[in-house]
Amino acid sequence: MHDVDFGFTEEQLLIQDVARRIAQEKIAPSAEHFDKSGEFPLANIQLLGENGLMGIEVPAEYGGAGMDPVAYVLAMVEIAAADAAHSTIMSVNNSLFCNGILANGTEAQKQKYVRAIAEGAEIGAFALTEPQSGSDATAMRCRAVKQADGSFIVNGKKSWITSGPVAKYIVLFAMTDPSKASRGISAFLIDTAREGFHRGKTEPKLGIRASATCEIEFTDYVVQPDELLGDEGHGFKIAMGVLDAGRIGIASQAIGIGRAAYEATLAYVRERQAFGQPIGAFQMTQAKIADMKCKLDAALLLTLRAAWLKGQGKRFTTEAAVAKLTASEGAMWIAHQAVQIHGGMGYSKEMPLERYFRDAKITEIYEGTSEIQRLVIARHETGLR
Ligand code: CAA
Repeated sequence: MHDVDFGFTEEQLLIQDVARRIAQEKIAPSAEHFDKSGEFPLANIQLLGENGLMGIEVPAEYGGAGMDPVAYVLAMVEIAAADAAHSTIMSVNNSLFCNGILANGTEAQKQKYVRAIAEGAEIGAFALTEPQSGSDATAMRCRAVKQADGSFIVNGKKSWITSGPVAKYIVLFAMTDPSKASRGISAFLIDTAREGFHRGKTEPKLGIRASATCEIEFTDYVVQPDELLGDEGHGFKIAMGVLDAGRIGIASQAIGIGRAAYEATLAYVRERQAFGQPIGAFQMTQAKIADMKCKLDAALLLTLRAAWLKGQGKRFTTEAAVAKLTASEGAMWIAHQAVQIHGGMGYSKEMPLERYFRDAKITEIYEGTSEIQRLVIARHETGLR
């Protein structure tokens, strides 16, 4: 993974270096603790924010690092290789929160909401999914009813909200005109300190345990007219555009998890002896190592392609889906084989392999399941739906 030279700029290599240093010095040593306790790693998240890693693509005038999507990929991979949960929080702040407001917000909204998250002062979240609506996002029931003064009254529930328990601000999607289906959805900026906003219990999860997730509920929450994000009825397109970018982040996360599992396995197969030789000398192990390497390299190249297209201002919906599908299924396969090659040690909580295995699984589920990525790719390729 280190022998690819795309002529990365000094800036891109610099942020990769900053991310790698924090990942190795602060995050990797505490990853096991946070996985076991499920505690939110606030100090580490603030440190990432102070170093520009919560607003990598955010222009400096809104408090960010002012870099491009390729820099984002390089930094995300480093953080995810140390701990996936930290990279989940980082990806929601960068991709799902800041990206959507940068692309659709007013100047005042960018100054208020993007700056707070990009500078690491606050944490953001993204609320699309509901108890009865996941992949079928247009089936949402959360309602925002417009009032005569231009404000909206919001009622309804959202579930599986990453960083929901700690977020100060949330980008919310709610139905403003159910008769128009996807064209009746609008996006709003929510302040979680305001009356009418409630949090449910924090979800116990298989992996990424230090990233806090909960259900949220709105009861007669009032959204002011200047808290509408983009035009009324454009919420679904905003959500889809944000998720296209988010999928580059999750692909990068999967590459980081896969790389960590691969590197641990490479070291192990050189040392572990069986039948009088290192297990890495057996062809069955060698085949697995070769397949791991191919999946990792393919995932990185495809993710850089999607990031590069985004940086050029070109459409990258299909390329992001290809990258996310390849990287997440690759990471799951690599983590699975890494546990298998480590045998009992892979199954033990004394080693990080079982954590990589648990963490990899979410990358096949959130920000669009593998089935949704296949649907996006195949609809594009066939022109059929
Ligand atoms: N960019 C911009 N616009 C888009 C778009 C995109 N990528 N994809 C679709 N649209 C537009 C379409 O052009 C269409 O516009 P018109 O009305 O003008 O024609 C409109 O949106 C509706 O499109 P579709 O008819 O294709 O919509 P659909 O109902 O068939 O759904 C889908 C498409 C791809 C299945 C979509 O619902 C989807 O991506 N579902 C998965 C949702 C998802 O990823 N959820 C993740 C939750 S968030 C999360 O996980 C966060 C976290 O905690 C980490």
